[in-house]
Amino acid sequence: MMHGQRIHDHAATPVAVLDDAAVRHNVQVMAEWCARHGVELAPHGKTTMAPELFRRQLAAGATAITAATPTQVRVMRAHGVGSIQMAAQLVQPREARWVAEQLASASDFTFVSWVDSVAGVDVLAQAAAGTGAVFDVLLELGIPGGRTGCRTDEQCAEVLAAARSASNVRVVGVAGYEGTVAGDRSAASLDAVRAYLRRLRSLGERVGADVDGPVVLSAGGSMFFDLVVDELATGWPPGAARVVLRSGCYITHDHGLYHGNSPLDDPAVAPRLRPALTVWGTVLSRPEPDRAYLDVGRRDVSFDQGLPVPLRRLPASDPHARAHELDGATVTALNDQHAYLSLPPGTALDVGDRVEVGISHPCTTFDKWRQLPLLDDAGIVLDVIDTHFG
Ligand SMILES: Cc1ncc(COP(=O)(O)O)c(C=O)c1O
Repeated sequence: MMHGQRIHDHAATPVAVLDDAAVRHNVQVMAEWCARHGVELAPHGKTTMAPELFRRQLAAGATAITAATPTQVRVMRAHGVGSIQMAAQLVQPREARWVAEQLASASDFTFVSWVDSVAGVDVLAQAAAGTGAVFDVLLELGIPGGRTGCRTDEQCAEVLAAARSASNVRVVGVAGYEGTVAGDRSAASLDAVRAYLRRLRSLGERVGADVDGPVVLSAGGSMFFDLVVDELATGWPPGAARVVLRSGCYITHDHGLYHGNSPLDDPAVAPRLRPALTVWGTVLSRPEPDRAYLDVGRRDVSFDQGLPVPLRRLPASDPHARAHELDGATVTALNDQHAYLSLPPGTALDVGDRVEVGISHPCTTFDKWRQLPLLDDAGIVLDVIDTHFG
């Protein structure tokens, strides 16, 4: 479609765009960080649901792609992903049967999912029956009042016993998501995350005693992966454990939540992740001196973890100029199709100007777009990627 063209000469707004160099940089930075710390990366694919980006992550050394739902598993499989971690309990019998058949028919396909109940083990055992498939599972540890995952040692023991008595379900390790424990890097949050990870480590040690080969410990989104490494990846005898991170948002990073809370977005850290996903809109109206309204709304941009951040202006009067900073502007509210901009006195911004906004939380911007252009530094479209949300 727009390959080789300048985005602003051809695309109407609103339009979400990816900075190709920043995406490549982030994929590389995270891959190198994981290699340096001796951990694997199974990036959470739900962030982008973009097979082209999965390919880049796998080419950089990711050992699997993580899925949240059976539909995501099917999309990944259809696009040739050979190793999938489903970071949830697979409880739908038909979907479990489909996975079992995939496992039985393709010797190069590996799949691991989570269990936190006897019922969950039973679904897998029944789905695998007669297929020859064996389901590898991770025992999920949760926290009281949190999300999924066993709460107590007794629950863990029950699930382990159920798996042990099922010949086609094999516990290979433990898993959890520290991102449900805290949502920022305040001292109290870091303490709570560390405490949770220590419990996961200790469960991993116990489960590992019965696992043939290295025990798998999987945790880690994009906010606390440094703590995951500290708590889970150190102090094992060689070859005794495989720590698998599942960070997803790192691939585009952002101008909001992750910018403020990533271990790899600190002035003291190099190289840092770079924000790679933005949305361009057009000024629809400028009815008051300190107000402007863009054609970017909840249909177009994340709003679940903070509002978008105005970044740059491209004047309608000179569309071939380079965009320049839009200092001091903030988005104060979003409607379905509008962003409310508050502007410092004297801001030059006219009806018809284009404005680029940064986002907070990439997952919920990606899912609003079926296609996203990858741009070079000059705004030329290098490629267009497809997303596959259900
Ligand atoms: C279970 C699980 N693992 C990993 C992730 C990825 O974390 P992040 O979105 O911070 O990259 C998520 C995100 O919600 C998750 O739910």
